[in-house]
Order: sequence, then structure tokens, then C-alpha cells
Amino acid sequence: MTAEIIDGKYISSQIRNELSAEVASLHSKTGNRPGLAVVLVGNDPASATYVRNKGIACDEVGITSETILLPSNSNEEDVLNTIKDLNKDDRFNGILLQLPLPSGINEDSMLLTIDPNKDVDGLHPYNVGRLMQGSPIFIPCTPAGVQELLLRSGYDPSGQHVVICGRSNIVGKPLSALLSQKLKGANATVTVCHTGTKNMQDITKLADILIVAAGRPNMIDKEMLKPNTIIIDVGINRIEDNTRKSGFRLIGDVDFNSVKDIARAITPVPGGVGPMTIAMLLKNTVQSFRNMHNLPDEKLI
Ligand SMILES: NC(=O)c1ccc[n+]([C@@H]2O[C@H](COP(=O)([O-])OP(=O)(O)OC[C@H]3O[C@@H](n4cnc5c(N)ncnc54)[C@H](OP(=O)(O)O)[C@@H]3O)[C@@H](O)[C@H]2O)c1
Repeated sequence: MTAEIIDGKYISSQIRNELSAEVASLHSKTGNRPGLAVVLVGNDPASATYVRNKGIACDEVGITSETILLPSNSNEEDVLNTIKDLNKDDRFNGILLQLPLPSGINEDSMLLTIDPNKDVDGLHPYNVGRLMQGSPIFIPCTPAGVQELLLRSGYDPSGQHVVICGRSNIVGKPLSALLSQKLKGANATVTVCHTGTKNMQDITKLADILIVAAGRPNMIDKEMLKPNTIIIDVGINRIEDNTRKSGFRLIGDVDFNSVKDIARAITPVPGGVGPMTIAMLLKNTVQSFRNMHNLPDEKLI
């Protein structure tokens, strides 16, 4: 048996097509387009690439976007003032602060300044609290992308034992809240593993759906799975590869070759969760525009 590939690139392109049509319809109704402001502090090359890709994705679906570039020697006040200006700027109904920030700038206090109604990354404590209570406004993009990947591939987490490796604020924790809710598309039994977990393989072997977001290349191999597990590999790790012009390639947290003959389905890296994260950012930006114009999403009514 060879695992089915859950193709995030393809699924995300379907979502972007749906969003293009939605943005066109919203534009004809309101004369306006959703707008996303991305704040990038410093010149970290990986962050610059992510931000560029987000801009391209916005263009593709008709969302107006602008990147506000702050120099790497910016201080907290510079970042705070930029965010406060964007909170008041009607051109933008979404604000994204690209993380990580240069050292010396406290991420939590910067995120706290973003207007929760424009927090399309879903990381403001207000939005995190709403998610915990089961009435989210914006679901953080990577967890939302994972849920969407599962649902659109026919793997509804309801009633399944989902094991998540990783408990970060941007992936593991919100994902465990999202998938354990008593709601459609969720309703799973969720176990979260981390560096304090003893005998992790005893737990991963119980997973019907295993989601790995640890940032440890090839951490999961076939010895850690039961047959027919559905695997979502969130990890993105750069490893040296002299055969590539760039000198590196990207791999996940799951040893793909080891698990491919025992797993039922798996996301590739790249081309799995990554493109979904961007698609969910676009989706949240459109949702924010709807909220601000009091235009409920007909699909949700
Ligand atoms: N595809 C995407 O769009 C996307 C988006 C976000 C992140 N990512 C990738 O996902 C990975 C995780 O990102 P993150 O921001 O969540 O990372 P993070 O903040 O570094 O958190 C990693 C989590 O994994 C746990 N962990 C690390 N090593 C472990 C081990 N050996 N056994 C069990 N648990 C372990 C840590 O446990 P402790 O809490 O005990 O330290 C922590 O909770 C990274 O590779 C990142 O690049 C991808």
C-alpha cells in the first residue's frame, strides 16, 4: 500500500478560485475590495519570501495588499505606531505582523496592539479566547489550513483520535482547541505531545490522524505509527543539499520514505500545509471585510 498524497497545492488553488469569485462579488456589491497590510520588520530573507508570496496570493484573488517595511533597527515604538496607524486606516481590514520580529521587540505586546477585528492571523488574545470558547472570529491560519485539508480530502476528524506533536501558540495549541470543539468538522479526541511527553511513540501509535508541528526534521518514522494513519506534516525544515542551486531543500518533520507504505494518507513538504496557510490568510481577510461591511457569509447561514 502506498499512502495517498494530500495535495495542499491543489486544494489551496481551489480555495483561491472560490475566493476570487467571492471577492469579485463583494466588489460589485460594495465598490470596495478587501485590503491586507503586512508589516515586515528587518530583512530576514525567509520572512521576505513569505511576505512576497502573500502579496502575490492577494493579487491573484483581487485583495488589495501593501507591505510596510520597517528597518531592522526599528524599536518597539516604531512598530507600535505603525500598527496603530493601520488600525485606523480604512483601506485595510486585515493586518498581519510577520513573525519572528528582530530581538528586542516583544512579539506578544506588538500582537496585542492589533485591532482584534483586523487580526486576520488570529493571534490576538481576544481571538485566541474566542477560539477556545468555540466561537472564533478568525482561526489562526495554519490550524485552519490543517482542518480544511482534512475536510476537503474526506478525512473528517469527528470521532477520530487526533495526536498533535507540538504545542506552539501559532500551531499546536490553537489546533488542539479547534479540532476538539463540539462543532462540525471538529469533534475529535485530541492528545498533544511535546518535549515533556514520555514514550511519545506509545501515543503517536494510537493516532488515527497524526499532526506533526515540532520543527524537527524526520522526527516521525514508521515505527511510531499504526497502519493506516492519516498524517499532516506541518514542519518546514531547511537542510543542506549541494545538488540544489540554492544549497538547501525543505523537508518536513515526518520521514516520508519511511512512512509512505504504512500510512493511509500524507501531506508532502513542500506542497502540503504551507500553501493552505496562505489560502486561509486570504480567507480570513475576506471574512474580515464581510464583518466590517455587515455582509454575512451566505455559506455559513
Ligand atoms: N506549513 C506552514 O505553514 C507552517 C506554519 C507554521 C510553522 N510551520 C513549521 O512547523 C514547525 C513547528 O513550528 P512552530 O512555530 O509551531 O514551532 P515552535 O514554536 O518551535 O514549537 C515546536 C513545538 O514542538 C515541540 N517539540 C519540539 N521537539 C520535540 C520533540 N522532539 N518531541 C516532541 N515535541 C517536540 C515543542 O515542545 P515544547 O513546547 O516542550 O518546547 C514545541 O511545543 C516548524 O518546522 C515550522 O517551520 C509551518
